[in-house]
Amino acid sequence: MAPTGGVFALFIVLSSWALMKSGLSYGSDSDIQCLRSIMESVEDPYNYLNSTWKFGNNSNGFICKFTGVECWHPDENRVLNIKLGDMGLKGQFPQGIINCSTMTGLDLSNNRFNGEIPSNISKILAYVTTLDLSSNSFSGGIPVDISNCTYLNILKLDHNQLTGQIPLELSRLDRIKQFSVSNNRLSGPIPVFSKNATITEDDYANNLGLCGYPLPLCENTASKSSNTKVIAGAAIGGVTFAAMFTAIVLFVFLRRRVSMKKDDDPEGNKWTKSLKGSKGVKVSMFGKSVSKMKLSDLMKATNKFSKSNIIGTGRTGTMYSAVLGDDTSLMVKRLQDSKHSEKEFMSEMATLGRVKHKNLVPLLGFCMVKSERLLVYKHMPNGTLHDCLHLSEDEKRAMEWPLRLKIAIGAARGFAWLHHNCNPRIIHRNISSKCILLDSDFEPKISDFGLARLMNPVDTHLSTFVNGEFGDLGYVAPEYSRTLMATPKGDVYSFGVVLLELVTGESATRVTRDLEAFNGNLVEWIRQLSENSNLEDAIDESLVGKGADSEIFQTLKVACSCVLAPGPKERPTMFEVYQLLRAIGGRYNFSTENELSMPTDNGNADRLEELIVAQ
Ligand SMILES: *[C@@H]1O[C@H](CO)[C@@H](O)[C@H](O)[C@H]1NC(C)=O
Ligand SMILES: *[C@@H]1O[C@H](CO)[C@@H](O)[C@H](O)[C@H]1NC(C)=O
Ligand SMILES: *[C@@H]1O[C@H](CO)[C@@H](O)[C@H](O)[C@H]1NC(C)=O
Ligand SMILES: *[C@@H]1O[C@H](CO)[C@@H](O)[C@H](O)[C@H]1NC(C)=O
Ligand SMILES: *[C@@H]1O[C@H](CO)[C@@H](O)[C@H](O)[C@H]1NC(C)=O
Ligand SMILES: *[C@@H]1O[C@H](CO)[C@@H](O)[C@H](O)[C@H]1NC(C)=O
Repeated sequence: MAPTGGVFALFIVLSSWALMKSGLSYGSDSDIQCLRSIMESVEDPYNYLNSTWKFGNNSNGFICKFTGVECWHPDENRVLNIKLGDMGLKGQFPQGIINCSTMTGLDLSNNRFNGEIPSNISKILAYVTTLDLSSNSFSGGIPVDISNCTYLNILKLDHNQLTGQIPLELSRLDRIKQFSVSNNRLSGPIPVFSKNATITEDDYANNLGLCGYPLPLCENTASKSSNTKVIAGAAIGGVTFAAMFTAIVLFVFLRRRVSMKKDDDPEGNKWTKSLKGSKGVKVSMFGKSVSKMKLSDLMKATNKFSKSNIIGTGRTGTMYSAVLGDDTSLMVKRLQDSKHSEKEFMSEMATLGRVKHKNLVPLLGFCMVKSERLLVYKHMPNGTLHDCLHLSEDEKRAMEWPLRLKIAIGAARGFAWLHHNCNPRIIHRNISSKCILLDSDFEPKISDFGLARLMNPVDTHLSTFVNGEFGDLGYVAPEYSRTLMATPKGDVYSFGVVLLELVTGESATRVTRDLEAFNGNLVEWIRQLSENSNLEDAIDESLVGKGADSEIFQTLKVACSCVLAPGPKERPTMFEVYQLLRAIGGRYNFSTENELSMPTDNGNADRLEELIVAQ
């Protein structure tokens, strides 16, 4: 092994360099192409655009300084919103916007655009949540295809010259909150939107005879059939919530039952015996949430680290459940083979102790004894997502869709925060359904973040992967075998696999009936279904037909964008994944407080480089 050490060190240096050079600029040429094409197709008589839209530069994030362009991140050329209101612009709807493929909002209001709204608009604006075309001169009909823009929250088409009927299919837009078509030349029945949309008569005013609630009733049967839709919709909503509640109750019950059948395991561990003389060593705690402890307290609380207290074993070490004398529950992680010096370890702990977010398992303290490194975490009563999903047939049944979606959104929020908002930013490198733990409310909490850096480099997952001993193979992005680099996009791939587990109910690595032909490789199975356009077949049967089919399918599409993208650059960022999932779960109001802010911290990019070099 000895001679490989030097080679390995060289490799670390080289790969860190390569990552700094390339990994940080995962912007998108197509977004630049998109803006270029808008600029070319639009007449700009007052030179609003050509004073700031300069394409000569090509630095990371240069387009983010353009007037009216908002990016996902200020140093990534990836457009979030385009806001070109009130600029006197003229021309047809700019088709080139299709190349801003992750844009979520478009505002062209108060200009002089004309011509028809494209009939394939959902292809051009696949992910928009806000579309404002008001106060222009758009003519022709409202395209039926707008009803395929499923993420729309706000649709403003007022003050144009639109004619014909409003497509009743728009009632499929179940996230609509604002809708206005006043001051056009529309007629006929109006669609019925979800109860939560605040749409008034004013939003329909000044047209050529619209009818249906909240306007005067129509005389034909159209309004009747739309009303039944609303009632059916409301009933399905109720059923979903009842199902979610039942799922949670059933779950708590089942988990209790499992935790009761603890069989004792008297077999002492060799390593704990070697600590006999050190029982008085103090456990360092970050806050005052738990009273002072010594190693002896941890030993007692974990039954001397007995096998029956093991919650999970992963690449970074083994997690034990611990119950203190005063009945406080904790989790203790014994790091595997940490070869870092005490000083390095202390400084890592000081950093990790400050990293706090609602979707991370709180690190409460740590203990260093001889070569042992023990980390003390808050207890998560509902165990790992992996066990909840796959432990037994019975329990799998109990996980209804709303609960799975809630977990997906919360976990994505946590990972997005680690990637984009946390200081220093952290690449997790070990994402699987086993590192997502569930608290008493089934709120997901990420564990193991920041630990990959504490491992002996020769034992990190990259080298074990090379040696073919890598445990969580089902989660590793394909480029690892080539580049051997940990990147944020590698995390996105792994998280995509977790999403697939949630949607399909299948394990990422175990061979089951459907996956037999694929050696249990979930992603390959999905790839084949996708190529044959049979993607729906992947959805967990126990979820189908309960009123959430479209949400489930959209989540599956998000998972596919993470795992089937041709390369890491084409994958969405974690922030994008989070935003997409949040839009899909919009109707449940899972949690609106404490949302992630749009990352705006240029300074963090340097810290990310430091972090990578530290690995
Ligand atoms: C913008 O375009 C106009 C004519 O199209 C030109 O006269 C003007 O110099 C341009 N401004 C800049 C800053 O390029
Ligand atoms: C490119 O734009 C960035 C940000 O506006 C600026 O700092 C940089 O100097 C520009 N580079 C060139 C070559 O113009
Ligand atoms: C999108 O970008 C590609 C090149 O990246 C270009 O060939 C294509 O014409 C663009 N599409 C539109 C509608 O401008
Ligand atoms: C949308 O339709 C326009 C004209 O009808 C066409 O030029 C364009 O290629 C279409 N775009 C897509 C993505 O289908
Ligand atoms: C909406 O999308 C579906 C699936 O892509 C397609 O079959 C349908 O024609 C679209 N609807 C409209 C009105 O274009
Ligand atoms: C409507 O809003 C209420 C309260 O804001 C919420 O409880 C309910 O789930 C929402 N319904 C839908 C369908 O969004």
